[in-house]
Amino acid sequence: MQIKGKVALVTGANRGLGRALVQALLAAGAAKVYAGARDPASVDVPGAQALKLDVTDKATVLAAAAQAGDVDIVINNAGISAHGSALGDDAEDLIARHLDVNLYGVLRVSEAFAPILGRNGGGALVNVLSVLSFLTIEQLTAYCVSKSAAWALTNGTRQQLKGQGTVVTGVHVGYMDSDMTAGIDAPKTSLADAAASILGAIEAGQEELLIDDLSRQVKASLSTDTPAYL
Ligand SMILES: NC(=O)c1ccc[n+]([C@@H]2O[C@H](COP(=O)([O-])OP(=O)(O)OC[C@H]3O[C@@H](n4cnc5c(N)ncnc54)[C@H](OP(=O)(O)O)[C@@H]3O)[C@@H](O)[C@H]2O)c1
Repeated sequence: MQIKGKVALVTGANRGLGRALVQALLAAGAAKVYAGARDPASVDVPGAQALKLDVTDKATVLAAAAQAGDVDIVINNAGISAHGSALGDDAEDLIARHLDVNLYGVLRVSEAFAPILGRNGGGALVNVLSVLSFLTIEQLTAYCVSKSAAWALTNGTRQQLKGQGTVVTGVHVGYMDSDMTAGIDAPKTSLADAAASILGAIEAGQEELLIDDLSRQVKASLSTDTPAYL
């Protein structure tokens, strides 16, 4: 799908990858870009249309869908990541909080916007996942649970929406240079490069995008005797 002339919506668009995606979509000639944010006043990209959208609040998701009935591209980007042990302490609460944003948030937005994408000719639904869909780091178990589950949801959504012509793309990436990885000393993909890769995948109608070497290596290891998660 050509991005030029299309209408797009990005969740979590006030900072990080979401903000870079809004900038890249506008630079690529999108006719309109809705920048979904919990606080629309925090959207600072010139030319973007700020839209209140808290993915944990179904009322705001439905209100956003009522306002953005012209979208061709929806990018589920909003996400949270917090540390905590795999079991015990506040593990149950931590997993619930991650699922609310990273899994049910994706579900709420996808359910609200899938009929709109269908009416507008099919379009594209992009879910920003992670290398941690394939691999668990103990102190990030809740995040990994949510991203593995969101990967499964992405794959089911793809099957369901194929009939209406919507291309559903799962995006996996290791470290990107955003607030989420502040303080982590590791090679990081720039937000502009990650956004450019995602736009390339949309234009190519690609169903899966592995942005960096880390996500490619970890996925490749799954079919070996030494998968990265062991
Ligand atoms: N950074 C990485 O290395 C990395 C790696 C793999 C995957 N990812 C994924 O990439 C996506 C973007 O992450 P990022 O690195 O850009 O993180 P970030 O800089 O922390 O930004 C997260 C964004 O999500 C928004 N958000 C959080 N909860 C929300 C909610 N309930 N409703 C709507 N928006 C909400 C935040 O809005 P507020 O400003 O209101 O909090 C913010 O705009 C996430 O899905 C993340 O899991 C990141």
